Amino acid sequence: MARRVYVNGRYLPYAQAMIHAEDRGFLFGDAVYEVCTIEDGRIVDERRHLDRLDRSLAEIGMAQPMSRPALHRVMKETVRQNGVRDGIVYLEISRGAAGPRNFRFPSPGTRPTVVCLARSISRRRLDEAATKGIAVVTVRDIRWHRPDIKTVQLLAAVLAKEEAAARGGAEAWLVDPTGYVTEGASSNAWIVAGNGRVVTRPAEHGILRGVTRMVLLDVLAAEGLTLCERAFRVEEAYEAHEAFITSASNTVMPVVSIDGHQLGEGRPGPVTMRLRKAFATGSEYT
Ligand code: PDD
Repeated sequence: MARRVYVNGRYLPYAQAMIHAEDRGFLFGDAVYEVCTIEDGRIVDERRHLDRLDRSLAEIGMAQPMSRPALHRVMKETVRQNGVRDGIVYLEISRGAAGPRNFRFPSPGTRPTVVCLARSISRRRLDEAATKGIAVVTVRDIRWHRPDIKTVQLLAAVLAKEEAAARGGAEAWLVDPTGYVTEGASSNAWIVAGNGRVVTRPAEHGILRGVTRMVLLDVLAAEGLTLCERAFRVEEAYEAHEAFITSASNTVMPVVSIDGHQLGEGRPGPVTMRLRKAFATGSEYT
């Protein structure tokens, strides 16, 4: 099936889709985005993703480009036109293009650019990865001070992922100047401490409020596990019984080594796998 992309009101083959060369998303990273998982053709946790999108738009002073039902229709139609059963749908909204490059906001009437694309991801491959677990490596967090806003300014994440891959890691854990882990380059970071408590950094301005993270907080409570929202140091993570990352496409993905330090038996831990299994009970499908 030929892939199609939604750009400003039209669903087009990629070769025909166009974005203005002076689009502010391209020039300045002046754009926000969301990535939702598609399971069996349904969008997972759309409400929470669109709540976060509203917040991101508000934080950068952009108006909503269209109503929520309209955004829902665009995402569903993009998923349908690309024949995606399992995968992701990506939605990006930039402040648009308004003549010669100018840092100042364009005039209020400027049309935002809305792009939506969808692609398949093999659930079987993800499940296979989860049975083995992944290695992560730590990298200095050099991002701007508002990673809580989901903007497309992702160069620091790109560089961190590249460094992780060069050092044999599937994800980078970002470390703040005081030695505490903030989050993954494109995921939230968790450890299971010796006392069985599940530890993750509080969602302040230093990290993205992951939708998967929020859902998992409910699942943790339902499972009767104890949550400890606090920052943790890299050295504590090396000694953790278990660790995992969360993101829309991975849900709960076990981590079995950090900077080459094997965790526990070097296999996905029981708490992590229990949470991975229970995850769907906390999600909404539309
Ligand atoms: N990334 N932290 C960062 C920095 C992220 O980029 C992401 C998601 C998350 C997890 O958020 P959520 O649970 O809402 O997916 C945490 C997406 C998937 C991406 O950029 O592809």
